[in-house]
Amino acid sequence: MINKNYLIRVENLKAYYFTNLYGIKRLIKAVDGVSFEIHNNEILGIAGESGCGKTTLLKVLLGIIKPPLSVFEGKVYYLINHEEKDIFSLSENEFRKLRWKIVSYIPQGSMSVLNPIRKIKDTFKDFMKAHVQEMISEDDFENLLIEHLESLGLPLEVLNSYPHQLSGGMRQRVTIALSTLFRPRIIFADEPTTALDVVVQRGVLQLLKRIQKEHKNTIVIVSHDMGIHAHTSDRIAIMYAGKIIEVASTRDIFSNPLHPYTKYLINSLPKIGDKSFKSSIPGTPPFLANPPSGCRFHERCSEVMSICKESVPELKDTGNGHKAACFLVEGGRS
Ligand SMILES: Nc1ncnc2c1ncn2[C@@H]1O[C@H](COP(=O)(O)OP(=O)(O)O)[C@@H](O)[C@H]1O
Ligand SMILES: [Mg+2]
Repeated sequence: MINKNYLIRVENLKAYYFTNLYGIKRLIKAVDGVSFEIHNNEILGIAGESGCGKTTLLKVLLGIIKPPLSVFEGKVYYLINHEEKDIFSLSENEFRKLRWKIVSYIPQGSMSVLNPIRKIKDTFKDFMKAHVQEMISEDDFENLLIEHLESLGLPLEVLNSYPHQLSGGMRQRVTIALSTLFRPRIIFADEPTTALDVVVQRGVLQLLKRIQKEHKNTIVIVSHDMGIHAHTSDRIAIMYAGKIIEVASTRDIFSNPLHPYTKYLINSLPKIGDKSFKSSIPGTPPFLANPPSGCRFHERCSEVMSICKESVPELKDTGNGHKAACFLVEGGRS
């Protein structure tokens, strides 16, 4: 029986980069055995330090799989109109039909995707022409655009501006408006606020929250910043070295983090009134061509046990959909 509350289901996904640099062949295991679900009507956060495979995971979920990246194993299913579709069996053309209408993408560093020599209005027009087969009159298009911007609370003056005339925050809001023009069921936003200062970040996140509430769709926000997830996400999946190591509601992640890596991420957040230096996590995420044996976090973990070096902990449900991959949680001390 299929659980109809999910929109995307990922099963044991392995996506690797095959690189050949100076004659040295490498297999970079950027996503390595990931299983999880993305629900209807939620903001899901994907967190984890840089280099953990977050962007690669998004690319695969979006069907953007080009060399050197390839899918080695696993399945990704979209549930569309109560029908489960295996995205790896869709042709390029079939997938193109899903893009922007069912699923849309705000890529990392996306503020630069706006054409610098076109007014925003013309960029929207180009986008419309590229993705809508039916002809639409100029007037209908203008009305649609105005209605869309107003529904997102964006000033209409932006339409007659060039990208360089807008602030970074406004440019990002315009990019978000562009990617939501066809009211997609799911939006993937990769580090949507990373280039922005804190005050501007808040406005952009509020816009994403507003879209989710009004469209009752699903938004996946990828960010290395747990502070952003605390304010924005309903659930959080934590990635480390190509794997999801914990997933739970935002409340459970912050009130009862189970994996030592999740605890580290939370502890490194600044707290009001606390002027002490935060201890950052010792070391860096491993190079994914040659990840550590056992639990990939074991070399950096203060609670490491002997089993952690030998066996890979599975992502297990501890109740209420709170899942963690750690031998401490399983009581697997040997
Ligand atoms: N085009 C590429 N070719 C080879 N390796 C890549 C490529 N893109 C990313 N990687 C590697 O894949 C791993 C995961 O990267 P990425 O998915 O960008 O992580 P994140 O988004 O969490 O920072 C890293 O080790 C990165 O160096
Ligand atoms: Mg990234």
